[in-house]
Amino acid sequence: MRSPVPERSPAPEERIRAFGPGRVNLIGEHTDYNGGLALPFAISQGVIVDAVAVDDLMIRAHARDLDERFAFAVTQREREHGWRAFVIGMAAELEVLGVDVGGATLEIGGDLPRGAGLSSSAALEVALCLALLALAGIDPDEPGRLELARVCARVENEWVGAQTGLLDQLASLYGEPDAALLIDFATLELQPVPLKLGDWRLVVLDSGQRHEHADGGYNERRAECARACELLGVQTLSEARASAAAQLPEPLARRARHVLSENERVRSAVSALRDGDMPELGALLSSSHASLREDFEVSTPAVEATVARLLEAGAAGARIMGGGFGGCVLGLFAPGAHAPSDALEVRPGAGAHLLAD
Ligand code: GLA
Repeated sequence: MRSPVPERSPAPEERIRAFGPGRVNLIGEHTDYNGGLALPFAISQGVIVDAVAVDDLMIRAHARDLDERFAFAVTQREREHGWRAFVIGMAAELEVLGVDVGGATLEIGGDLPRGAGLSSSAALEVALCLALLALAGIDPDEPGRLELARVCARVENEWVGAQTGLLDQLASLYGEPDAALLIDFATLELQPVPLKLGDWRLVVLDSGQRHEHADGGYNERRAECARACELLGVQTLSEARASAAAQLPEPLARRARHVLSENERVRSAVSALRDGDMPELGALLSSSHASLREDFEVSTPAVEATVARLLEAGAAGARIMGGGFGGCVLGLFAPGAHAPSDALEVRPGAGAHLLAD
């Protein structure tokens, strides 16, 4: 569905500050593009875009962490690489939605490390999206957040070249303090699940291995899942019967087994949270990791070493998070247990919003 947005004239001199949070996925990995279940939450760290309208129909952007600049005419549609692809793609996709994107200067900053598995890509897309919409005088709830998640995903799929699903964008746009979001990708139904950690702590520890979904094994996994669906005659792997999936040739049988077992673990994690059973949540994180390592094969030696560090420090459970092939590991610590000092504590925070200047 594409909801056309009424045209409005940009307001020169207006200053906008938009925040797009990163996300942590508690459990439910590689299920989004397989019509399955996931349980992510937005975190307090994110990308901030400071935007000012200008009237010469040029967008001039500055990425603070890289100290790189780039400028393009709003009508330009040439392909770019790296962070530039996000900016040019967002301007183009918002135009497709019917937004009259005007000239702007964009300062891109924030406190979210790139490529570390905290979804810096979605945070950047969402912050750019909110900033350009606000400059055009459009409330994000007018097209609706689901539509914005689709716009952001199109930027990533078509302009950046990573065939990612909707998990990260939905988490960043719909996050709520003190809750995770149960997302059913078959229906796109979202349900907040209270995440009461008490004195328990969730931390992420960087494996030090950077990953790029556009050129990593992520697209290969998607292709394998698509092939498995074709062979099984189903639309998504989540619809497959376990007995039929087990007959697939390898590695497709293992890929399908991961998706089906991961959906079950998401259901169990929701029950564990409702019961306040944190040790059970920890055990589910570890079994998710085993499945991602053995069946989905997205772990690496650097990730395994990071999981081992968290478990040796006393984590009740730990698992690779995000697309895999590097990035961050998530660990759950009981009260009194000490996470490694280079781990970052994460808590559920608010979804994307505009900040006061
Ligand atoms: C990345 C993608 C998501 C999702 C996860 C794996 O973070 O951006 O769409 O597929 O990997 O769960």
